[in-house]
Amino acid sequence: MRKYEYRGVIFDLDGVLTDTAHYHYLAWKNLAESVGANFDESFNEQLKGVDRMGSLNLILAASGKNFSDADKLALADQKNLHYQSLIAQLSPADLLPGAAESLQQIRAAGLKTALASVSKNAQAVIERLGIADQFDVVVDAAKIKNSKPDPEIFLTAAAGLDLTSDECFGIEDSIAGIRAIKSASMFALGIGSPVVLTEADVVIAGLHQFSLQDYLK
Ligand code: BG6
Ligand code: MG
Repeated sequence: MRKYEYRGVIFDLDGVLTDTAHYHYLAWKNLAESVGANFDESFNEQLKGVDRMGSLNLILAASGKNFSDADKLALADQKNLHYQSLIAQLSPADLLPGAAESLQQIRAAGLKTALASVSKNAQAVIERLGIADQFDVVVDAAKIKNSKPDPEIFLTAAAGLDLTSDECFGIEDSIAGIRAIKSASMFALGIGSPVVLTEADVVIAGLHQFSLQDYLK
């Protein structure tokens, strides 16, 4: 495992700090079924970390039908309204095990923290989780042009922290996100299964297994 004098940690949100990845899955599944596209967990892996219109385009392509731009916007809104109804009651109790402790550990050690989420709902989610004040920098869909796997979001987060890529590591549960971290030339810590996150430097099952000392010199 690479050990470095890291000065910042960049977190993905959905599926890393809270299980909103499951709510995205449920809302996309519902939408996919309404347009006659096959949808399962393995297809969903390709959507994780991908922005709303990018995900919709993948589902619509799988349906084999054509949709106008107006149809696409209406379907994206439909999915988002469903998703927002699923996250309406989020609270600090919805932080995944180890999430709050990991943030505290990192900040107590004097490292900076950033959020890198392509979700337009990211700010609302971190506020409901009660962790909005735990990030020095929040980069969401409003601040970037290119979704993961493009490195832009991680490079923007590092720049916001005033750190180089070498000084940061990224934490991600999605294939697209791990690719974005590696394209940004950062160490990538995967959350989930090593069978899925084959390009991550290290994979742990969840932040309950995170210990900052494992990654420091
Ligand atoms: C990412 C999720 O964080 O945000 C994706 O991994 C989701 O599943 C994307 O599609 C966009 O989210 P939103 O909230 O802007 O539709
Ligand atoms: Mg994620």
